[in-house]
Amino acid sequence: MTSKSESESRYLSAKIVVVGAGLMGCGIAQVFAQKGISTVICDPVEEARNTALDKIRANLDLQGLNHACLECIRIADDLASEVSNANFVIEAAPEKLPIKQKIFAELVVAAPSSCILASNTSVIPIRDIAAGLKTAERIIGTHWWNPPYLVPLVEVVQSDRSSETCVLNMMALLDYVGKKPIHVKKDVTGFVANRMQHALWREAVALINDGVCDPVTIDVAVKNSFGMRLPVLGPIENADLVGLDLTQDIHSVVLEDLNADRGPARVLINKVDAGELGMKTGSGFRNWTPEQADSVRKNLIQYLLKVTESPFPHSDN
Ligand SMILES: NC(=O)c1ccc[n+]([C@@H]2O[C@H](COP(=O)([O-])OP(=O)(O)OC[C@H]3O[C@@H](n4cnc5c(N)ncnc54)[C@H](O)[C@@H]3O)[C@@H](O)[C@H]2O)c1
Repeated sequence: MTSKSESESRYLSAKIVVVGAGLMGCGIAQVFAQKGISTVICDPVEEARNTALDKIRANLDLQGLNHACLECIRIADDLASEVSNANFVIEAAPEKLPIKQKIFAELVVAAPSSCILASNTSVIPIRDIAAGLKTAERIIGTHWWNPPYLVPLVEVVQSDRSSETCVLNMMALLDYVGKKPIHVKKDVTGFVANRMQHALWREAVALINDGVCDPVTIDVAVKNSFGMRLPVLGPIENADLVGLDLTQDIHSVVLEDLNADRGPARVLINKVDAGELGMKTGSGFRNWTPEQADSVRKNLIQYLLKVTESPFPHSDN
């Protein structure tokens, strides 16, 4: 077993390259830099390179932290040369398959064979990004959540060609920098957490679509019931708590009635067609003044800061 100090010296001498200086790339780089690990952010777009450090400064200010970690971050544009001595690469470029395929085709050639290559794709299967590439055993997924410097979970995705050792090595690194990595053992669309999240959203939208309740009521219902319990009681803990016999009885009645649509609901399509896209256009399922939208964003960050500063002690293994 590797001791804490062995891990420390291994990671402190490691080089991480983050591909893409956008919202996620900057936040991901910040996490490694805050642990003193040398991190390069590579982006072909000049504007993105010029604003990357300001984005990280703003994140740090929000967290009430000093800017010392910026010492560990360098901004660059030459991907091939930067990855030539990298230990880990995390790609956070736009969510377009051809862009990701092109980047990984370059990475497998330019990065040493020991370097683990991870994509932060939200939904693209890792096998598609790695299609046709040699040394695909080191291509894996690392799905971070926004904002990456506050939300602990990172889903580490193993495709049918990825090696488990690469997955476990990446998980060890993520654990070292204070994240909560989970091993996703199959390359399924949406991985683990987004599948569950969107199963809930599908039902929420269906309830609105079918006139069972209005949009505000959906949020009231969640925030005042199981949503309150979720941080300390996951669904599986909850099933075991209430008993699997009761869970089976409930599923026997309710599952066949739950929404099982294979595509977006009509009410959602109509909203998008009408240009009602949510807070950014002033209305979506609900109406939003700029102040209300701002307050939702601020509340979220304040809440995440609070729970990450003093997480409620609970066992989640
Ligand atoms: N935004 C989120 O909440 C979120 C959450 C989890 C995962 N993701 C995923 O993370 C990835 C990045 O998302 P984002 O929100 O940071 O996007 P973003 O648009 O903020 O940033 C993308 C960056 O990639 C750069 N870029 C463009 N072409 C490139 C290329 N060929 N090589 C390298 N960089 C290039 C752009 O200049 C930009 O700086 C996507 O795959 C997205 O699906 C996003």
